[in-house]
Amino acid sequence: MFNLMTMISPQLIFLMLFLPCIALSSQNSAYPSPYGDDKDSCGSDLKPLRREVYGNGKIFDITHRISSETRSWDSDDGVGDQYLNLYISMKNGTEYNFSELKLPVHSGTHVDAPGHVFENYYDAGFDIDSLDLEVLNGPALLVDVPRDKNITADVMKSLNIPKGVRRVLFRTLNTDRRLMWQKRFVTNYVGFMKDGAQWLKDNTDIKLVGVDYLSVAAYDDLIPSHLVFLESREIILVEGLKLDDVEAGIYSVHCLPLRLLRAEGSPIRCILIK
Ligand SMILES: *[C@@H]1O[C@H](CO)[C@@H](O)[C@H](O)[C@H]1NC(C)=O
Ligand SMILES: *[C@@H]1O[C@H](CO)[C@@H](O)[C@H](O)[C@H]1NC(C)=O
Ligand SMILES: *[C@@H]1O[C@H](CO)[C@@H](O)[C@H](O)[C@H]1NC(C)=O
Repeated sequence: MFNLMTMISPQLIFLMLFLPCIALSSQNSAYPSPYGDDKDSCGSDLKPLRREVYGNGKIFDITHRISSETRSWDSDDGVGDQYLNLYISMKNGTEYNFSELKLPVHSGTHVDAPGHVFENYYDAGFDIDSLDLEVLNGPALLVDVPRDKNITADVMKSLNIPKGVRRVLFRTLNTDRRLMWQKRFVTNYVGFMKDGAQWLKDNTDIKLVGVDYLSVAAYDDLIPSHLVFLESREIILVEGLKLDDVEAGIYSVHCLPLRLLRAEGSPIRCILIK
Protein backbone atom coordinates (compact mmCIF):
# COMPACT_ATOMS: atom_id res chain seq x y z
CA MET A 1 0.00 0.00 0.00
CA PHE A 2 2.69 2.48 0.96
CA ASN A 3 5.94 2.54 -0.88
CA LEU A 4 8.27 4.07 1.66
CA MET A 5 11.25 3.81 -0.65
CA THR A 6 9.80 6.58 -2.80
CA MET A 7 9.91 8.87 0.22
CA ILE A 8 13.29 7.95 1.62
CA SER A 9 16.32 9.45 -0.08
CA PRO A 10 19.49 7.42 -0.61
CA GLN A 11 21.25 9.85 1.75
CA LEU A 12 18.77 9.05 4.52
CA ILE A 13 19.18 5.32 4.00
CA PHE A 14 22.93 5.79 4.19
CA LEU A 15 22.54 7.73 7.45
CA MET A 16 20.20 5.11 8.90
CA LEU A 17 22.59 2.30 8.05
CA PHE A 18 25.84 3.90 9.06
CA LEU A 19 24.92 6.19 11.92
CA PRO A 20 27.72 5.89 14.48
CA CYS A 21 27.08 4.20 17.85
CA ILE A 22 27.27 7.47 19.76
CA ALA A 23 24.47 9.01 17.74
CA LEU A 24 22.39 5.85 18.05
CA SER A 25 22.65 5.51 21.78
CA SER A 26 21.94 9.18 22.43
CA GLN A 27 18.72 8.90 20.40
CA ASN A 28 17.43 5.62 21.76
CA SER A 29 14.26 7.00 23.26
CA ALA A 30 13.51 9.29 20.35
CA TYR A 31 13.80 6.52 17.76
CA PRO A 32 12.73 3.26 19.41
CA SER A 33 12.84 0.04 17.42
CA PRO A 34 9.29 -0.83 16.36
CA TYR A 35 10.21 -4.48 16.61
CA GLY A 36 10.99 -4.40 20.31
CA ASP A 37 14.66 -5.34 20.00
CA ASP A 38 16.39 -4.84 23.33
CA LYS A 39 19.87 -4.25 21.96
CA ASP A 40 21.12 -1.81 19.36
CA SER A 41 23.91 -2.57 16.91
CA CYS A 42 26.43 -1.38 19.54
CA GLY A 43 25.12 -3.78 22.19
CA SER A 44 23.64 -1.27 24.65
CA ASP A 45 20.15 -1.66 26.14
CA LEU A 46 17.27 -0.31 24.08
CA LYS A 47 13.88 0.29 25.54
CA PRO A 48 11.30 2.31 23.66
CA LEU A 49 9.61 5.07 25.57
CA ARG A 50 5.84 4.86 25.01
CA ARG A 51 3.80 7.82 26.18
CA GLU A 52 0.23 9.02 26.50
CA VAL A 53 1.22 12.52 27.62
CA TYR A 54 3.96 14.72 26.20
CA GLY A 55 5.47 18.11 26.94
CA ASN A 56 5.19 18.07 30.75
CA GLY A 57 1.45 17.38 30.82
CA LYS A 58 0.50 19.73 28.01
CA ILE A 59 -0.06 17.33 25.10
CA PHE A 60 -2.40 14.35 25.40
CA ASP A 61 -2.41 11.61 22.83
CA ILE A 62 -6.09 10.65 22.40
CA THR A 63 -5.37 8.06 19.71
CA HIS A 64 -5.47 4.34 20.39
CA ARG A 65 -2.30 2.51 19.41
CA ILE A 66 -2.68 0.32 16.36
CA SER A 67 -1.72 -3.29 17.03
CA SER A 68 -2.98 -6.74 16.09
CA GLU A 69 -5.53 -6.29 18.90
CA THR A 70 -6.96 -3.04 17.56
CA ARG A 71 -10.72 -3.10 17.54
CA SER A 72 -12.42 -3.34 14.21
CA TRP A 73 -16.13 -2.96 13.54
CA ASP A 74 -18.12 -6.12 14.17
CA SER A 75 -15.05 -8.27 14.78
CA ASP A 76 -14.06 -10.08 17.95
CA ASP A 77 -10.52 -10.75 16.79
CA GLY A 78 -9.03 -7.32 16.35
CA VAL A 79 -7.29 -6.50 13.09
CA GLY A 80 -4.86 -9.42 13.49
CA ASP A 81 -1.12 -9.78 12.97
CA GLN A 82 -1.46 -9.36 9.22
CA TYR A 83 -2.15 -5.64 9.67
CA LEU A 84 1.61 -5.15 9.45
CA ASN A 85 3.43 -7.49 7.13
CA LEU A 86 7.22 -7.40 7.26
CA TYR A 87 7.68 -8.66 3.76
CA ILE A 88 11.36 -7.84 3.47
CA SER A 89 13.17 -8.86 6.61
CA MET A 90 16.74 -8.39 7.80
CA LYS A 91 16.46 -11.91 9.22
CA ASN A 92 16.49 -13.03 5.58
CA GLY A 93 19.65 -11.21 4.73
CA THR A 94 18.56 -7.85 3.39
CA GLU A 95 20.01 -4.63 4.71
CA TYR A 96 16.69 -3.25 5.88
CA ASN A 97 13.27 -4.20 7.23
CA PHE A 98 10.35 -3.22 5.07
CA SER A 99 6.67 -3.58 6.01
CA GLU A 100 3.36 -3.10 4.32
CA LEU A 101 0.16 -2.05 6.04
CA LYS A 102 -3.24 -3.68 5.65
CA LEU A 103 -5.99 -2.32 7.84
CA PRO A 104 -9.76 -1.80 7.72
CA VAL A 105 -10.12 1.98 7.45
CA HIS A 106 -12.77 2.04 10.21
CA SER A 107 -10.66 0.36 12.88
CA GLY A 108 -9.21 1.92 16.00
CA THR A 109 -9.27 5.72 16.20
CA HIS A 110 -10.59 6.79 12.80
CA VAL A 111 -12.58 9.34 10.82
CA ASP A 112 -15.60 8.93 8.52
CA ALA A 113 -16.04 10.76 5.23
CA PRO A 114 -19.50 11.58 3.74
CA GLY A 115 -19.09 8.75 1.24
CA HIS A 116 -19.37 6.28 4.14
CA VAL A 117 -23.18 6.31 4.04
CA PHE A 118 -24.08 8.23 0.88
CA GLU A 119 -23.54 6.45 -2.42
CA ASN A 120 -23.77 9.67 -4.43
CA TYR A 121 -21.15 11.37 -2.20
CA TYR A 122 -18.89 8.33 -2.53
CA ASP A 123 -19.21 8.39 -6.32
CA ALA A 124 -18.67 12.16 -6.42
CA GLY A 125 -15.42 11.79 -4.47
CA PHE A 126 -16.29 13.06 -0.99
CA ASP A 127 -13.47 10.99 0.43
CA ILE A 128 -10.95 11.46 3.25
CA ASP A 129 -8.86 13.78 1.09
CA SER A 130 -11.87 16.12 0.86
CA LEU A 131 -12.19 16.60 4.65
CA ASP A 132 -11.58 20.13 5.97
CA LEU A 133 -8.43 20.25 8.09
CA GLU A 134 -9.67 23.49 9.64
CA VAL A 135 -12.58 21.56 11.19
CA LEU A 136 -10.21 18.83 12.37
CA ASN A 137 -7.87 21.33 14.08
CA GLY A 138 -8.73 24.10 16.52
CA PRO A 139 -10.34 24.90 19.89
CA ALA A 140 -12.36 21.97 21.25
CA LEU A 141 -14.49 21.06 24.22
CA LEU A 142 -14.21 17.70 25.96
CA VAL A 143 -17.52 17.01 27.77
CA ASP A 144 -18.83 14.24 29.96
CA VAL A 145 -22.17 12.86 28.88
CA PRO A 146 -24.67 11.48 31.46
CA ARG A 147 -23.74 7.83 31.89
CA ASP A 148 -27.25 6.33 31.98
CA LYS A 149 -28.47 7.22 28.49
CA ASN A 150 -27.57 7.25 24.85
CA ILE A 151 -27.10 10.71 23.33
CA THR A 152 -30.65 11.84 22.62
CA ALA A 153 -32.01 15.33 21.90
CA ASP A 154 -32.76 15.70 25.64
CA VAL A 155 -29.20 14.77 26.56
CA MET A 156 -27.81 17.20 23.98
CA LYS A 157 -30.05 19.96 25.39
CA SER A 158 -28.92 19.21 28.93
CA LEU A 159 -25.24 19.61 28.02
CA ASN A 160 -25.79 23.34 27.36
CA ILE A 161 -23.00 23.58 24.83
CA PRO A 162 -22.73 27.27 23.93
CA LYS A 163 -23.24 28.51 20.40
CA GLY A 164 -19.93 29.12 18.70
CA VAL A 165 -18.35 25.88 19.98
CA ARG A 166 -17.35 24.05 16.81
CA ARG A 167 -15.53 20.97 18.06
CA VAL A 168 -16.79 18.66 20.80
CA LEU A 169 -15.46 15.36 22.07
CA PHE A 170 -18.14 13.40 23.92
CA ARG A 171 -16.92 11.16 26.74
CA THR A 172 -19.44 8.50 27.64
CA LEU A 173 -19.95 5.30 29.57
CA ASN A 174 -17.86 3.67 26.81
CA THR A 175 -14.72 5.14 28.37
CA ASP A 176 -15.70 3.93 31.87
CA ARG A 177 -16.32 0.47 30.43
CA ARG A 178 -12.98 0.61 28.59
CA LEU A 179 -14.73 -0.75 25.52
CA MET A 180 -11.96 0.30 23.12
CA TRP A 181 -9.50 -1.73 25.19
CA GLN A 182 -11.52 -4.93 24.84
CA LYS A 183 -11.02 -7.23 21.92
CA ARG A 184 -14.67 -8.20 21.79
CA PHE A 185 -16.98 -5.98 19.73
CA VAL A 186 -20.11 -4.94 21.65
CA THR A 187 -23.37 -3.47 20.36
CA ASN A 188 -24.56 -1.95 23.64
CA TYR A 189 -22.10 0.93 23.53
CA VAL A 190 -23.34 4.52 23.91
CA GLY A 191 -23.75 6.71 20.84
CA PHE A 192 -26.02 9.27 19.21
CA MET A 193 -29.66 8.44 18.66
CA LYS A 194 -31.11 9.99 15.52
CA ASP A 195 -32.90 12.76 17.45
CA GLY A 196 -29.67 13.61 19.28
CA ALA A 197 -27.82 13.95 15.98
CA GLN A 198 -30.64 16.08 14.56
CA TRP A 199 -30.65 18.32 17.65
CA LEU A 200 -26.90 18.86 17.38
CA LYS A 201 -27.22 19.72 13.70
CA ASP A 202 -30.16 22.11 14.19
CA ASN A 203 -29.18 23.85 17.41
CA THR A 204 -25.41 24.01 17.68
CA ASP A 205 -22.41 25.13 15.62
CA ILE A 206 -20.61 21.82 16.19
CA LYS A 207 -18.77 20.61 13.09
CA LEU A 208 -16.38 18.10 14.67
CA VAL A 209 -18.04 15.32 16.66
CA GLY A 210 -15.68 13.02 18.54
CA VAL A 211 -16.75 9.87 20.38
CA ASP A 212 -15.12 7.12 22.44
CA TYR A 213 -16.23 3.98 20.62
CA LEU A 214 -16.12 2.75 17.04
CA SER A 215 -19.34 4.46 15.97
CA VAL A 216 -20.76 7.91 16.61
CA ALA A 217 -24.23 6.36 16.30
CA ALA A 218 -25.87 4.10 18.86
CA TYR A 219 -26.28 0.63 17.40
CA ASP A 220 -30.08 0.92 17.22
CA ASP A 221 -29.81 4.11 15.13
CA LEU A 222 -26.64 3.17 13.31
CA ILE A 223 -27.44 4.35 9.80
CA PRO A 224 -30.07 7.03 10.62
CA SER A 225 -27.67 8.95 12.90
CA HIS A 226 -24.84 8.73 10.36
CA LEU A 227 -27.17 10.02 7.65
CA VAL A 228 -28.17 13.04 9.75
CA PHE A 229 -24.55 13.91 10.54
CA LEU A 230 -23.01 13.35 7.12
CA GLU A 231 -25.75 14.67 4.85
CA SER A 232 -24.59 18.30 4.96
CA ARG A 233 -20.97 17.25 4.41
CA GLU A 234 -20.04 19.90 7.00
CA ILE A 235 -19.83 17.71 10.09
CA ILE A 236 -16.81 15.43 10.53
CA LEU A 237 -17.06 12.32 12.68
CA VAL A 238 -14.03 11.08 14.63
CA GLU A 239 -14.59 7.73 16.31
CA GLY A 240 -12.76 5.47 18.72
CA LEU A 241 -10.99 8.26 20.61
CA LYS A 242 -9.01 7.47 23.74
CA LEU A 243 -10.47 9.87 26.29
CA ASP A 244 -9.26 8.11 29.45
CA ASP A 245 -7.28 10.18 31.94
CA VAL A 246 -7.94 13.57 30.35
CA GLU A 247 -9.90 16.21 32.26
CA ALA A 248 -13.06 17.64 30.74
CA GLY A 249 -12.55 21.17 29.49
CA ILE A 250 -11.24 23.31 26.69
CA TYR A 251 -8.27 22.27 24.58
CA SER A 252 -6.85 22.70 21.18
CA VAL A 253 -7.51 19.54 19.18
CA HIS A 254 -5.32 18.41 16.32
CA CYS A 255 -6.47 15.52 14.16
CA LEU A 256 -4.76 14.44 10.96
CA PRO A 257 -6.07 11.55 8.86
CA LEU A 258 -4.07 9.83 6.16
CA ARG A 259 -4.59 11.54 2.83
CA LEU A 260 -6.46 8.62 1.28
CA LEU A 261 -8.01 9.26 -2.08
CA ARG A 262 -11.35 7.42 -2.64
CA ALA A 263 -11.43 6.13 0.97
CA GLU A 264 -14.59 6.71 3.02
CA GLY A 265 -12.67 6.24 6.26
CA SER A 266 -9.14 6.53 7.59
CA PRO A 267 -7.09 5.92 10.70
CA ILE A 268 -6.45 9.30 12.31
CA ARG A 269 -3.95 10.65 14.84
CA CYS A 270 -5.54 13.03 17.33
CA ILE A 271 -3.95 14.99 20.15
CA LEU A 272 -5.22 17.55 22.64
CA ILE A 273 -3.06 20.45 23.67
CA LYS A 274 -3.79 22.24 26.95
C1 LIG B 1 12.30 -15.35 5.45
O1 LIG B 1 12.82 -16.62 5.71
C2 LIG B 1 11.95 -17.49 6.39
C3 LIG B 1 12.69 -18.76 6.75
O2 LIG B 1 13.49 -19.19 5.67
C4 LIG B 1 10.74 -17.74 5.49
O3 LIG B 1 9.83 -18.59 6.16
C5 LIG B 1 10.09 -16.45 5.17
O4 LIG B 1 9.00 -16.62 4.28
C6 LIG B 1 11.06 -15.45 4.57
N1 LIG B 1 10.42 -14.19 4.45
C7 LIG B 1 10.58 -13.42 3.40
C8 LIG B 1 9.82 -12.15 3.40
O5 LIG B 1 11.27 -13.72 2.47
C1 LIG C 1 14.61 -5.94 11.59
O1 LIG C 1 15.85 -5.27 11.65
C2 LIG C 1 16.63 -5.53 12.78
C3 LIG C 1 17.84 -4.64 12.74
O2 LIG C 1 17.45 -3.32 12.84
C4 LIG C 1 16.99 -6.99 12.84
O3 LIG C 1 17.81 -7.24 13.97
C5 LIG C 1 15.73 -7.78 12.92
O4 LIG C 1 16.03 -9.15 12.88
C6 LIG C 1 14.77 -7.45 11.81
N1 LIG C 1 13.50 -8.01 12.16
C7 LIG C 1 13.01 -9.05 11.58
C8 LIG C 1 11.70 -9.55 12.13
O5 LIG C 1 13.53 -9.55 10.64
C1 LIG D 1 -27.60 2.66 24.18
O1 LIG D 1 -28.20 2.03 23.09
C2 LIG D 1 -27.86 0.65 22.92
C3 LIG D 1 -28.54 0.14 21.67
O2 LIG D 1 -28.31 1.00 20.60
C4 LIG D 1 -28.27 -0.14 24.13
O3 LIG D 1 -27.88 -1.47 23.99
C5 LIG D 1 -27.60 0.47 25.35
O4 LIG D 1 -28.03 -0.20 26.51
C6 LIG D 1 -27.90 1.95 25.47
N1 LIG D 1 -27.10 2.51 26.58
C7 LIG D 1 -27.62 3.24 27.58
C8 LIG D 1 -26.66 3.70 28.62
O5 LIG D 1 -28.79 3.51 27.63
